[in-house]
Amino acid sequence: MMDIQNFKNIVISGASSTIGFHIASQLQQMNPKASIVGLTSNINKIDKTSSWDQLYEVDYLDQNSLIKAKKSMPFDSIDLLIFCNGFLHCDEHGPEKRLEDCDPTHLLKSFEVNVVSLLMVAKILKSMFKHKRRSGFFALSAMVGSISDNRLGGWYGYRSSKAAMNMCLKNISIEFGRSNYHTSVHGIHPGTTLSPLSQPFIAGRKPDTIYTPALTAKRILQVIEQSAENSTGEFYHWDGHILTW
Ligand SMILES: NC(=O)c1ccc[n+]([C@@H]2O[C@H](COP(=O)([O-])OP(=O)(O)OC[C@H]3O[C@@H](n4cnc5c(N)ncnc54)[C@H](OP(=O)(O)O)[C@@H]3O)[C@@H](O)[C@H]2O)c1
Repeated sequence: MMDIQNFKNIVISGASSTIGFHIASQLQQMNPKASIVGLTSNINKIDKTSSWDQLYEVDYLDQNSLIKAKKSMPFDSIDLLIFCNGFLHCDEHGPEKRLEDCDPTHLLKSFEVNVVSLLMVAKILKSMFKHKRRSGFFALSAMVGSISDNRLGGWYGYRSSKAAMNMCLKNISIEFGRSNYHTSVHGIHPGTTLSPLSQPFIAGRKPDTIYTPALTAKRILQVIEQSAENSTGEFYHWDGHILTW
């Protein structure tokens, strides 16, 4: 079990994420004494009056901007980090149905947000996990990033960048196991949740298979709380069962 209720120093990366916002709000209610810091690529997208103690606008691809944010944080160690950044589509391009749809700019953007940003956040904040308290480094991944679960194909950029994200999480769990061994590193599949990321793809789905961000945030926090103390390197479904990478 992770003692979320007593975690003091919390970082949410991708603070403007719909799910991330609800996670931060619920953490704040569960644990009013916690200091909750958000990293975002666009501070104007965020309701600043809500749960954040500090918000930092960063360019995830500019390491100096992450270092600057790290130096200004109100704490020097992290109990819980949740990476909520994710990219699936933009105005110019949706997910690919076939190879002919693959566009270099869109593919690179998927890897920038879903993979490179994760690695830069992990790299720059790694030293903040070098303490002796039980702590967690979690990332919202997606079941479509599971290679063994892929039966439908398509969505080349999102699927492959989430698969790469999953590999990076496994790698980070192994590396942290050597140097930051009090930190558990896991991926979580949040389930289809109402947000700008999923919005264009939910038409025709049964309403009971689309979840509100508040419900998803609650489930994610339950998964984190219930993750075994000595476990690391797992890929969790929102209901708590372990998915195959
Ligand atoms: N919603 C779903 O149905 C669903 C299903 C499976 C997995 N997930 C995963 O859950 C996580 C949260 O998703 P969500 O539904 O909350 O999505 P969302 O509301 O669209 O938020 C995604 C966040 O990712 C960051 N981001 C997006 N595009 C970016 C770009 N071009 N450059 C830099 N940062 C960018 C932004 O964070 P900042 O600008 O604040 O940094 C943004 O707020 C994602 O990893 C997503 O893949 C969601």
